[in-house]
Amino acid sequence: MLSRREFLNFSAATIALISLPNQIQSKQLIRNYKLTAGVTPHLFNNKGALDSLWLYNGQTPGPVIEANENDIIRVEFVNNLDEPSTIHWHGIKNINKMDGVPYLTQNPVQPGESFLYEFPVNHAGTFWYHAHVETWKQISKGLYGPLIVKNHVDEKFDDDIVILADDWRLNKNYQLDEKSFGSLHDWSHAGRIGNWLTINGKKFPEYSINKNGHTRLRFINASNARILSFGSSLEGMKIISIDGMWVEPFIQDKFNLGPGQRVDLLIKTDDLSTIDFFEVSGKKPLSAFKLNVSQISKKNIIKKDINLQSFKKIPNYKNPKILKIHMQGGAMGNLAKAYFEGVKKNFRSLAMEEKKFWAFNKEVGKYEHLLASVKKGQIIILEVWNDSRWPHSMHLHGNHFYVESKEFSNNDKLVLRDTYLMQPSENSKFIYLADNPGKWLFHCHMLEHAASGMIGYIEVL
Ligand code: C2O
Ligand code: CU
Repeated sequence: MLSRREFLNFSAATIALISLPNQIQSKQLIRNYKLTAGVTPHLFNNKGALDSLWLYNGQTPGPVIEANENDIIRVEFVNNLDEPSTIHWHGIKNINKMDGVPYLTQNPVQPGESFLYEFPVNHAGTFWYHAHVETWKQISKGLYGPLIVKNHVDEKFDDDIVILADDWRLNKNYQLDEKSFGSLHDWSHAGRIGNWLTINGKKFPEYSINKNGHTRLRFINASNARILSFGSSLEGMKIISIDGMWVEPFIQDKFNLGPGQRVDLLIKTDDLSTIDFFEVSGKKPLSAFKLNVSQISKKNIIKKDINLQSFKKIPNYKNPKILKIHMQGGAMGNLAKAYFEGVKKNFRSLAMEEKKFWAFNKEVGKYEHLLASVKKGQIIILEVWNDSRWPHSMHLHGNHFYVESKEFSNNDKLVLRDTYLMQPSENSKFIYLADNPGKWLFHCHMLEHAASGMIGYIEVL
């Protein structure tokens, strides 16, 4: 039986999913932030040389942008780089013109210029923001940060920790390996895989949490291309939220996180003194971080279980609009020919002349590449077929879609995601209601793949 409160949560979630977002109302609270992108000195390792990263407000990761559900976030973005940039709010069901996609939703913000982003946030959850111009370089140099939206459920947690992971590629002087930016090998294979994993900018950070408390851990994968894989010293990890959306909680021994994806865990600290987490995607485990349980609670711990909000199954729908996306390309692939800017070329000349390796439906994409036009109010089924030898982390801007996920150990788990990690040869259906007008980018979040053709947009009219 649902309690009254759960029932209310349930209906609130339902309404949020189908109602139109994004009309700014007069009584909403405004959260003001300023993000300045600039060149910042950074030392990765004492044995190495000083490096210069591109960071927001001189921090890696950039500052946490935080708001409550239904607030308005207002960010003054100042570009102090000597290249144009924009900011995208990954996972937010945004107003299209605030989505931060250069050429498609706004002009790039030129060096020395600024831009005001202002948008409501109608879903509590774990999101992030990042640069969206030449992402393969700008994100790689550090232009990203967490974006956390909270609601009443969050008041019950005793600790709330963001775990933003990045996979840097450093040279032997422990500086960003800039020589390999744009490497054809990376672009046609798995993308830029690094060799230096950080959690919140540090190598082996430790955090302290309250004894007997409930801790929410918010994992974000900001890597260019590495699929992270987390395990822990816990019996099992309880996943409560995926890409900022609630799920029916479930337990996993380990979980993968494709670039752009998020997973939130709920941890209870009874009887434990430390909890270790490690990242195991490499040849040897890259020890990641540790939680130290303080034996004396600083807080008034309420020893009750937390009522999480429920997951709302796919509503019934009629007459869906089916859009097919056939993904091809890359090394060892089957893309013989494809169109780029209207010209049909073979794979070799696409690679050599245009530096393009990937296509949707035999068309090499770019920001302004229209994939499909649909009417507002239609239910969309994106039938996505990964007909390549590589996994891809497929991200749709401005929407969360239902997908029968094969990412967890219990196969075919229905979840809501904004980024879905697809295996080679996988076919999947992304189902969503096109209720938000605008031009919504769809691309691989392995940033080198997006840069070399795996990108386009779906327009909602
Ligand atoms: Cu997080 Cu278009 O991306
Ligand atoms: Cu990809």
